[in-house]
Amino acid sequence: MLVLENILLAPLTTFKIGGPARYFVEAKTIGEAQEAIAHSRSRDLPLFVLGGGSNLLIADAGWPGLVLKISIPGIDQKPGHDDNGSVLFDVGGGESWDKFVSRMVAGHYAGVECLSGIPGSVGGTPVQNVGAYGQEVSETIASVQVLDLRDNQVRELCREACDFSYRSSIFNRTERGRFIVLGVTYALAPDGAARITYPDLKRHFEGLEPPTLAETREAVRHIRAIKGMLIVPGDPDCQSAGSFFKNPILSEEQHEDLNQRAATRGLTLPSYPALESRKKVSAAWLVERSGFAKGFGFGPVGISTRHALAIVNRGGATAADVLALKDQIQQRVEEIWGVYLEPEPVLVGL
Ligand code: EPU
Repeated sequence: MLVLENILLAPLTTFKIGGPARYFVEAKTIGEAQEAIAHSRSRDLPLFVLGGGSNLLIADAGWPGLVLKISIPGIDQKPGHDDNGSVLFDVGGGESWDKFVSRMVAGHYAGVECLSGIPGSVGGTPVQNVGAYGQEVSETIASVQVLDLRDNQVRELCREACDFSYRSSIFNRTERGRFIVLGVTYALAPDGAARITYPDLKRHFEGLEPPTLAETREAVRHIRAIKGMLIVPGDPDCQSAGSFFKNPILSEEQHEDLNQRAATRGLTLPSYPALESRKKVSAAWLVERSGFAKGFGFGPVGISTRHALAIVNRGGATAADVLALKDQIQQRVEEIWGVYLEPEPVLVGL
């Protein structure tokens, strides 16, 4: 295990923001990850685990302890099928998520095609239950291989044990800080049909034959590109952590109140039914109608010109700049709409 010192974290994130890690270890095997944890324990160093860096805002002061980057590779098909006829794939936490998706699509395995073009690594996907365009990873995750920091032992958690919901799991909620994701086992449907349920995708394929998985992947990447949610090097709209706020899930009363506030402004709320009887509303819509239009600039930070939910680093921004804009947005949205917007990326050292 190689322990590096004072490694700048900004280049390892899609936001391109963040100070140095005091110590830095890249683990390519489970053994190296265990060794790094033992090292941080014995020296009392606070530990932060880095994956693909696509959903993070790291403090300008960086991380005072040890940053452990999980780079465990591998996409391995298990022999046979599970009880539902699905094929299981063991995937290393360090694999690129989009590389895995492209492999599955090429092999005609359905279940992750709508999750094309998402930056980041496989290990990050169960933590926030990555979802987009009508699919969530919780639908295809069979189990998650983790290191339990309580005893530095490897464990296998089944899907139910992860307790997935919208952008949430035990990993970022009840058991936050306890587990490090080493790998994920996905169950995919061989020769399954593409999932065309999200409005943007339905519109894209309207009047056409049901698309193949490959056509669906291309459509999703195209739609993401239009929204500035596909990483294109050099494109300033992509220097972000994707959606900066979660779509709030409201109670009936909160939803009714919001509807009335919209009506008094002559507006109709775009809304879709979420879990249970609660209502999920569009955070992007609220942000845009609170004085933060697409392209809004606030010094070195701003709002993406193509999607109101992405805060972008327009060049040379600090974490403090991002937080200042975040605070402004939260305040205005709460004043006008009575809704609290919860940040979606993980805030590190902040
Ligand atoms: N809208 C606006 N202004 C905008 C963009 C959208 O008013 O600038 C409204 C429109 O009414 C639109 C609705 O918001 O119909 C929904 O927009 P979109 O389809 O872009 O989805 P989203 O709810 O804003 C979520 C995820 C994205 C994911 C898309 C597609 C969250 C926090 N974000 O965005 O995930 O790609 O759906 O499924 O749930 C991410 O998490 O980083 C991310 C990019």
